[in-house]
Amino acid sequence: MPSSAHLLTLATAVSSAAAAFQGFNYGSTFTDGRVKSQQDFESEFKTAASLDGTNGGFTSARLYTMVQGGTPNDPISAIPAAISTKTSLLLGLWASAGEASFKNELAALQKTIDQYCGKLDGLIAGISVGSEDLYRISPIGQAASPDPGASPDTLVSYVKQVRDTIKGSCLQDAPIGHVDTWTVYVNETNKPVIDAIDWVGMDAYPYYENTKPNELSNAKSLFQAALDKTKGVSGGKPVWITETGWPVSGDKSGAAVPSTDNAKVFWDEVGCPMFGKTNVWWFTLQDGSPTTPNPAFGVIGSELTTKPLYDLSCDNVDPSPSSTSAVSSSSKPSSTAVPSASSSAQSEQPSTSSADSGSGSGSVSNSAPAATTTAQGGSVSSSAPAPGTTVSTVVVPPPVGGNTSSAGGSVPTGTNPAGQPTAPTGTGAQPTASPSSIPTAAAGRVNSIGAAAVAIVMAAAVI
Ligand SMILES: *[C@@H]1O[C@H](CO)[C@@H](O)[C@H](O)[C@H]1NC(C)=O
Ligand SMILES: *[C@@H]1O[C@H](CO)[C@@H](O)[C@H](O)[C@H]1NC(C)=O
Repeated sequence: MPSSAHLLTLATAVSSAAAAFQGFNYGSTFTDGRVKSQQDFESEFKTAASLDGTNGGFTSARLYTMVQGGTPNDPISAIPAAISTKTSLLLGLWASAGEASFKNELAALQKTIDQYCGKLDGLIAGISVGSEDLYRISPIGQAASPDPGASPDTLVSYVKQVRDTIKGSCLQDAPIGHVDTWTVYVNETNKPVIDAIDWVGMDAYPYYENTKPNELSNAKSLFQAALDKTKGVSGGKPVWITETGWPVSGDKSGAAVPSTDNAKVFWDEVGCPMFGKTNVWWFTLQDGSPTTPNPAFGVIGSELTTKPLYDLSCDNVDPSPSSTSAVSSSSKPSSTAVPSASSSAQSEQPSTSSADSGSGSGSVSNSAPAATTTAQGGSVSSSAPAPGTTVSTVVVPPPVGGNTSSAGGSVPTGTNPAGQPTAPTGTGAQPTASPSSIPTAAAGRVNSIGAAAVAIVMAAAVI
């Protein structure tokens, strides 16, 4: 009975408690919809680990789906690619395409256990049940797209199903979390989801917070505010940065201007202080192959290369806190370190530890009356003025590929590979992108924006 289910080798990287996970988001398809093969993933992972200026630190990959495109429920080829390249994984189960589709995600998870347990030791950072599903069912999310998303109850049920699936397997200790925009976490109705998970994954893009002063010089504080807000409601659970980044090209979003120089500043001010201290999956390595989306976030262009579009070295970053640079669109990297001493502390480790739970009131929140919070997933942005109430302006980009129904809806779930939510292209996919409706948060975000984001002001009760 060599069933892998019996191999209780802790595949989780619990032991790697020392260092934080650091890497990028990886979609399952290219911008033209072509499904990535194991070799494609291996090439991407090797490139990420060899990027000039990074000292080989980007060795983790966040995935959006467990299912390989073109199959009903075979494990995504990124898994064997990660094994062969020693890349750690934040596995993800696409949860916005309905129950039948989710069953295939679970089946792929089970097959992963059956086929790869014994080879995953130390490679699993965690498992995310869903990606921006709560954002999709929110009013703003619905306004932007008919994507069904998933309710808090549904996600809680899915989390339980995942726990049942990994129980007794090599993945049993993998911390389970959920990825969404900060705005949904501060919505009390969604608290059951936070209660059900081990870590909270936050997507935050100041670039998309275009109803607020989101010029580059304010980006760092917008990001910090989102992080503080999320920590404030995480109940002490670790907050992981599952997506953030600044576009290297594309249209302006409010006062945010895409450019490689600006992406470099954001990398220095927001990324560098967190790398190695907090689990971070940046958006992203590459989102423009073969075509370049608008906006484009990739640190490399359409061809795989270890030479990034801008300097990724953090060597010259000023570690001093608060020096918020007043940089405008194209300013110099007057780096500012993220003052989040507290923040990083918590997010680091997966397990249930956590330090100051949520005092999210740290530096930023107090100081910034406008507690802005960024939202996210690229999709939402919001600002939170008053202490008690938050008026968030959310820019709603149609999450996922625009019409979610295609993700799981229109397409006979499970059956049609193409219809699979497999396309979570981390590549912020173009609006047109995928036929398979890219379940990517990123995709959505990108799409939406490109498609003209709708700004909605919503009042949300904030704790
Ligand atoms: C709060 O969350 C619930 C459940 O996800 C959702 O139905 C509701 O629309 C959300 N409220 C706002 C203002 O987003
Ligand atoms: C979503 O896409 C499906 C399939 O293309 C289409 O039938 C449906 O009308 C679309 N829904 C919306 C709201 O655009």
